[in-house]
Amino acid sequence: MDLKFGDIQETALIPLAIKASETARPNARIIDRKAKEIIDTLGVDVSKFDPFLSHEGVVARTIMFRDELKRLVGKYPEGLYINLGCGFDDKFSQVDNGKLTWFDVDLPDQIAVRRKVYEDRERCTMLAGSALDGAWTKELPKNDMTIVIMEGVLEYFSKDQVKTCLKMLCDSFAHGYLLAELHSPILEKHGKFHDAVKNTNANFGWGTRSGKEYLALEPRLNYVSEKSYNDEMKKYSIRGKLFAIIGKNLNNRLAVFRW
Ligand SMILES: C[S@@+](CC[C@H](N)C(=O)[O-])C[C@H]1O[C@@H](n2cnc3c(N)ncnc32)[C@H](O)[C@@H]1O
Repeated sequence: MDLKFGDIQETALIPLAIKASETARPNARIIDRKAKEIIDTLGVDVSKFDPFLSHEGVVARTIMFRDELKRLVGKYPEGLYINLGCGFDDKFSQVDNGKLTWFDVDLPDQIAVRRKVYEDRERCTMLAGSALDGAWTKELPKNDMTIVIMEGVLEYFSKDQVKTCLKMLCDSFAHGYLLAELHSPILEKHGKFHDAVKNTNANFGWGTRSGKEYLALEPRLNYVSEKSYNDEMKKYSIRGKLFAIIGKNLNNRLAVFRW
């Protein structure tokens, strides 16, 4: 299949490759059969997108985002959930409770590719839109609580773009939560050493030491929690444990904000 991806969109192949290869392992920590099916249908070569640290990071973040999201689904069972910059991810089927409303949103060319491998489902709809422009939010049903997931997306934005995105979310939705993957300033400076992203043309954007740095960009945001992926990664291997020590402030984090 002839596919055209932008530089950042191409990075969506990294978690896809990792979820498929983890699913095939004997003691898989996450199961995502759709990932393998997508790779086969699209006929893409993802062999360079599955090195050790990225593999462990994606497994950790998949578990951490899922668990955090399940907690919120328990609290807001009929909320509006938006996977913004969804790539090929299928979180809806991990957390669906039969009542929530879900939108998978990404740039138009990424949604066009996604439509080759997914169909809209009941309460789960794909929508083309950008995290930097809220026009698409007008098409969404009204809801008192909106939960926005941005996994592996804000990492590629400049500080100005992060600010634009946060303002867009707070302007568009009266009350919400943001589950965001954040990265360190070290990765911003030395992204070319990242074991998987170096195989794409994407560059890392503005990195933070703490999610609290977001509060200065958008006064309506409140900081709820933040956890390093090391917390999960160190459970599984000696290399993961070592990285949690050596790369204490280096690993990505899941930060939760509320407004
Ligand atoms: C590393 S992938 C992550 C995909 C998915 N969230 C996951 O974890 O598997 C980055 C995604 O961000 C999307 N993206 C980049 N810029 C965007 C923007 N301005 N608005 C919405 N999505 C964007 C890309 O198209 C791509 O799908």
